[in-house]
Amino acid sequence: MAQTQFTQRVFSGIQPSGGLTLGNYLGAIKRFVDMQDEGSFQTVYCMVDLHAITAKLLDPDTLRHNTRELCAGFIASGIDPEKSILINQSQVPEHAQLGWIFSCIARMGWMERMTQYKDKSGKNAEAASLGLLAYPALMAADILLYHATHVPVGDDQKQHLELTRDIAAKFNHDYGVDFFPITEPVIEGAATRVMNLQDGTKKMSKSDPSDKTRINMTDDADTIAKKIRKAKTDPDPLPDNTDALTDRPDARNLVNIYAALGDITPQAVLDQHAGALFGHFKVALSDVAVDKLAPISSEMSRLMDDPAEIDRILRRGADRAREISVPILEKTYDIVGMLRS
Ligand code: TYM
Repeated sequence: MAQTQFTQRVFSGIQPSGGLTLGNYLGAIKRFVDMQDEGSFQTVYCMVDLHAITAKLLDPDTLRHNTRELCAGFIASGIDPEKSILINQSQVPEHAQLGWIFSCIARMGWMERMTQYKDKSGKNAEAASLGLLAYPALMAADILLYHATHVPVGDDQKQHLELTRDIAAKFNHDYGVDFFPITEPVIEGAATRVMNLQDGTKKMSKSDPSDKTRINMTDDADTIAKKIRKAKTDPDPLPDNTDALTDRPDARNLVNIYAALGDITPQAVLDQHAGALFGHFKVALSDVAVDKLAPISSEMSRLMDDPAEIDRILRRGADRAREISVPILEKTYDIVGMLRS
């Protein structure tokens, strides 16, 4: 079969299940902005509110607030709603519709092997929601609904993207078509896995009960500086090469954060700071972090003063998105044999 040529299109999403963290910013949003500005892709970025209720139901006002705040975070970080299509997932109903089809393509065994499902369902999988198990099928639908060819994400989403490729391949194979692209994950840069500030072996996460473990995109300059000052480190000075950081997860994490914020490599950070003790390095890191993050956080709060404008941007984003998603869903239904009359 001739290979279909797909438009170069980027899709990615973030859950409005809590506030944005530095991990989301460096692992995802910063890359979203780069890919938008590069100009060779059409870019679609999404607040995945349907995903946000899979682990636990949220208070409705909190979910609405988080979704608007996430939208403000995207824009304040440099996503331009004219250049990119910015959407809230539930406002484009085709996501859930294609998600159902993919729930019938994906196999139970595939879903049960997902490490995030296993971590989030924990010891009591019987009590997990059906949505938590189906989560990656909906994620595949998010991506394939736009025939996205590239998906920038942090390292923790790698397995979900492999599943997305498996779902596309099985759909194409089972129906004898070349309809869905086999998407490329884009997992690049110094900060594909930003770690917890109090334990460099764990991922920085918005769901960690302790606020000291993360930098939130809404933190002010003093809070950012304080959290960096209190971040766990070791007593040794910074080495002169990155290999020497292999067994020093806390130190490596701070070096990687510095590199990602400053758009340089971790080795370049060590070239500048080799021999420094962490007391000194943390001051330099705080300066870079405050410099980059404080303007984003103040722009977010300015945007949040006008929620009606955020809603307008998302309404328009949904209309633009549906120009792509409706024909793709219609064609999918047609391939599957759903009556269209
Ligand atoms: P979520 O909301 O957990 O995270 C959003 C993005 O941030 C990245 N990320 C990190 N990157 C580096 N270090 C960290 N500590 C860190 N924490 C989070 C994630 O890798 C992700 O890129 N399943 C997705 C949401 C989703 C999605 C999609 C993504 C739904 N549909 C379609 C891409 C395409 C999730 O839970 O991300």
